[in-house]
Amino acid sequence: MKIYLDTANLDQIREASELGIINGVTTNPSLVAKEGVNGIADTKAHFAKICELMDGNISVEVIATDMEGMIAEAHELISIDPRIVVKAPATRTGLKVIHRLSDQGIKTNCTLVFSVLQALAAMKAGATYVSPFVGRLEDKGVDGLGVIAQMVQMKKNYEFETEILCASVRTQNHIQRCIELGVDIVTCPYEFVLTFYDHPQTEDGLKKFLMDYHA
Ligand code: G3P
Repeated sequence: MKIYLDTANLDQIREASELGIINGVTTNPSLVAKEGVNGIADTKAHFAKICELMDGNISVEVIATDMEGMIAEAHELISIDPRIVVKAPATRTGLKVIHRLSDQGIKTNCTLVFSVLQALAAMKAGATYVSPFVGRLEDKGVDGLGVIAQMVQMKKNYEFETEILCASVRTQNHIQRCIELGVDIVTCPYEFVLTFYDHPQTEDGLKKFLMDYHA
């Protein structure tokens, strides 16, 4: 399973890279806005810095909502670094853009996916990644992990190459179920990644080892 860090924060990406646990980064306009990045030049420089801090790819969402604007923005983004993956929403225009960019050999991530049929459309459009938002589905009382399970089965049934990148991950159960389902990638906030390392028995065991040794 690949683990991506869901942030645009440079310190968090630097720290997580040193842990050796992340395979990439996902961002979205809300996460970028949190970093106080202003203007095109600063934004491009910020993404370039992210690419310097880790070896994997980074998903960056286009802001434009019209097809030509999204395509133009996509080309701007990939000119920053070849590891940038263009993120577009699972709307009709977004899927047309994904189809066009995929035909041009540009990696794409179809985001804000909430149904199997949206995932099917994204996979058929040639998206490199499809990002279902499991936490937000559960916010609306939908069995988000059940939707993910259907997407995994669909990918297997029809041998789609698109990777399922589970987003809006908020609990360890989300991760554990994704592991059971064979989901390709999960993307998590930095604070949540740190909880992977926390276990009371590890702490207690280490204390006992050191106490016995020093005794
Ligand atoms: O990448 C999508 C992710 O940032 C959304 O997470 O918790 O706001 O639903 P959340």
